[in-house]
Amino acid sequence: MSSAMAWKKVAWRSPSNIALIKYWGKYGRQLPRNPSISMTLKNCYTDTEMEYRFGNVSNGPVLDFRFQGKHDEVFAARIMHYLDDISAEKPFLKNLEMRVNSSNSFPHSAGVASSASSMSAFVLCMLVAENQIIGVEKDMDDFLREASSFSRLASGSAARSLFGGYVIWGESAFIPHSSSRFAMPVTEVAPVFQRYRDAVMIVSSKKKTMASTRGHKLMEDHPFAQERYGQARVNLSRMIEILRNGDQMGFAELLEHEALTLHALMMSSIPGYIEIKPNTINIIDKIREYRDKSGVPLAFTLDAGPNVHILYPEEDKEEVIYFIKHQLKDLCENKKWIDDEMGTGPERLL
Ligand code: PMV
Repeated sequence: MSSAMAWKKVAWRSPSNIALIKYWGKYGRQLPRNPSISMTLKNCYTDTEMEYRFGNVSNGPVLDFRFQGKHDEVFAARIMHYLDDISAEKPFLKNLEMRVNSSNSFPHSAGVASSASSMSAFVLCMLVAENQIIGVEKDMDDFLREASSFSRLASGSAARSLFGGYVIWGESAFIPHSSSRFAMPVTEVAPVFQRYRDAVMIVSSKKKTMASTRGHKLMEDHPFAQERYGQARVNLSRMIEILRNGDQMGFAELLEHEALTLHALMMSSIPGYIEIKPNTINIIDKIREYRDKSGVPLAFTLDAGPNVHILYPEEDKEEVIYFIKHQLKDLCENKKWIDDEMGTGPERLL
């Protein structure tokens, strides 16, 4: 390895994503039990800046981690654990010192999952540092594929944040070269799905009852596990078909079915647990009532918590925002909701 060098700097912005077909259950080294598809967001992202220096230490990595300018020991410990996990594949880490500052565009306490955006932003910085240190220039496709694979090892859903639009992670016979090791974009998408939006209703910003690592683990002895993995595969093929043919009402039905199934799996785990809140259900009821009355094809989905994501076409933006302001906002914690839309993936800032 080369001798000590000066501090260098790299920065990336990486987005969050919301799963349409859910990943719930994993095995081996962060491999999903079933394939998933997500939509990449635009306004919910993490900016991570990394200063790094190579060659001054031999028992590294050495990490100084700050979140929004302040030391964050919990997050630092999580990253150190991750770096330890990948040390065999990334021996350069032994000689690396890092000063990292990370910040989210959405409030920390908004109850929006931030591990996908934060871990992918960190991995992008780390891989740029590696390439610079070992002196290789990878083409963008190879670089993003590697970033997806290493993000997966940090947090499963982070694998999908490396690409814009709709993204598949896991194998499907309908998407050539799809893989459980990394995600890739779904490119055959009908015009109506190319400009979709996501309004996130913040029902609660409190910590979830169950960390997702434990939730995945409970799938191992889940009475419906095998049934679910088979069903998810079928739902994934249906979603690929719907994205191709532009069937918006079919999309709404399948999206909601996946969200409710995810929460039904949590409730029927052993022990069972409940992540939704009364206002999650109140919001869902209002969305369905509004769709039936107006014919606007908006639909809800949920991640592992109580907040409700409303997906809808760009052309219905005005109507949907009016509906949110008049009927849903009061059901949100401190009337808080996030106005987001489909994004194009990570962006290098420095
Ligand atoms: O990425 P993890 O391990 O936090 O799991 C995320 C699981 C869900 O958000 C519930 C579904 C998904 O596919 O993102």
